[in-house]
Amino acid sequence: MARKGISILKGIDANEVIALLNKAYADEWLAYYQYYIESKVIKGIMKDSVVAELDQHAADELRHATMIAERILQLGGTPLLHPKDWFSYANCSYETPTNPDVLNILDQAIKGEQCAIDIYSKLAEITQGKDIVTYDIVSSILADEVEHEEDLQALYEDISEFIEQFKR
Ligand SMILES: [Fe+2]
Ligand SMILES: [Fe+2]
Repeated sequence: MARKGISILKGIDANEVIALLNKAYADEWLAYYQYYIESKVIKGIMKDSVVAELDQHAADELRHATMIAERILQLGGTPLLHPKDWFSYANCSYETPTNPDVLNILDQAIKGEQCAIDIYSKLAEITQGKDIVTYDIVSSILADEVEHEEDLQALYEDISEFIEQFKR
């Protein structure tokens, strides 16, 4: 436990930060698995470019989980130890890809990113000026989630446009 590192927190309790980070940690694992399995079951037009994007996002979400776990440990906390806790702690819902259609998968993934953007912008507000290290981590993750949303939205629009042209 980094005692000096914890003593620099101003006006926020380390346990409060740990609790918030564990919720985001659960979100990241569920997001990782959602991308992982979507990339396996997806079907339909232009699916290869979408698979590449989903795999990249899965890797990013796993990296985010690592960043958060390391911060929880620095603060003297314990990252969630059992996968069953992911559902009870998560802020965002898990979108089961029961419909493997490419546009449906993209739509679910976009919803997930929008929830993540909400969560990390709240975490940035809460930690700003109070816990500089956590603020830096959540800001950097927030920038990734904004980029994820944009990439998925662009793919969604390209594929919708392609389908429209095909119909004409
Ligand atoms: Fe993430
Ligand atoms: Fe993301």
